[in-house]
Amino acid sequence: MSDLVKPAVLFSEAAIEERIQDIGRRITADYQGREVAMVGILKGTIVFMADLIRAVQRPLTCDFLKVESTKDQRIDVAFSPETDFRDREVLLLQDVVDTGVTLNFITGHIQEDWKPRSLRIAALIDREDQRKVDCTVDYACFKPTRDGFVVGYGLDSDEHYRGLPYLGILEKKKT
Ligand code: IMP
Ligand code: MG
Repeated sequence: MSDLVKPAVLFSEAAIEERIQDIGRRITADYQGREVAMVGILKGTIVFMADLIRAVQRPLTCDFLKVESTKDQRIDVAFSPETDFRDREVLLLQDVVDTGVTLNFITGHIQEDWKPRSLRIAALIDREDQRKVDCTVDYACFKPTRDGFVVGYGLDSDEHYRGLPYLGILEKKKT
């Protein structure tokens, strides 16, 4: 890690904790009397999910979905749970929603293949002004106004920084 730059703080641990508690309360209220089927998109949502499941006071289950970009820039499902979601209320967790292309593909896959009773989206970072395709984020934790690549709290840049306890920002945008 020594040759990696230390990212500037975008959102502190305390700010994240407060925001997760807020979102957790909203989800708890919105899902009264219902069980939440949380699905985290790997790997960026691991820390977000670990905190959110403890902030939501509803019965819930956890599953994971993984997508990957192919050489010709298409998105493909790399790993999908075998769970039957037909009668389930799916709450999908995404790390970053930027152009919306990734989320749009995933929600399309879920609606067509899983046919859940309901589908909502929670995103840690929502860059609404960058959308190229339509997609709705029901629970957005943070909408940063600063330019740069966000890392930490599960989010990576070339697999680095996932263990950083805060959300940091790198000046140069890397994918
Ligand atoms: P989109 O398809 O343009 O909405 O991009 C979303 C995906 O790109 C996310 O799932 C992330 O993996 C990645 N991504 C985009 N911006 C960032 C960022 O600032 N930090 C970390 N990952 C990002
Ligand atoms: Mg990544």
